[in-house]
Amino acid sequence: MRFERTLILIKPDAMQRGLAGEIIKRIENKGLKIVGIKMLKMDKKLVEEHYNKYKEKPFFPVLERFMSSTPIIAMVVEGIEAISVVRRMIGKTNGREAESGTIRGDFSMSISKNLIHASDSEENAREEINRFFKEEELISWKRIDEIIYSEDELE
Ligand code: CMP
Repeated sequence: MRFERTLILIKPDAMQRGLAGEIIKRIENKGLKIVGIKMLKMDKKLVEEHYNKYKEKPFFPVLERFMSSTPIIAMVVEGIEAISVVRRMIGKTNGREAESGTIRGDFSMSISKNLIHASDSEENAREEINRFFKEEELISWKRIDEIIYSEDELE
């Protein structure tokens, strides 16, 4: 079956609230494999590039200040259909509307301070992974995938 990689950003509100561990725990518990992880501070240029499609939106200045306010954790995770799996795990953009059981649904009360970003399509995942990680920073390692997936899923 199709293994995918997706980009996750643990945002400044999660860092301030000490929720990075909780988020990483959920990703690991689910069975996704971490293939890249780093802490960095986004500067305005990187925020503008990453959120380019929102540049003209009224909330952009707030988003820019917020995303560059503290370091964040960027991660690349891998798994079968990882892009849609992670999107479902994080829940709707607005934390107040996100379903309980999702990361935003359980921990966020805000549209902007919604703890986490994750790529929403294969094309965006490729672009976003390249934005945050160099090829050599991504590590392909052998995990015992048979404990997570059935044999036919691994064919
Ligand atoms: P994210 O999934 O990272 O994608 C774009 C981000 O912009 C989103 O999470 C929110 O943090 C923010 N955002 C989107 N819509 C709004 C909005 N209407 N008001 C404020 N922030 C928003």
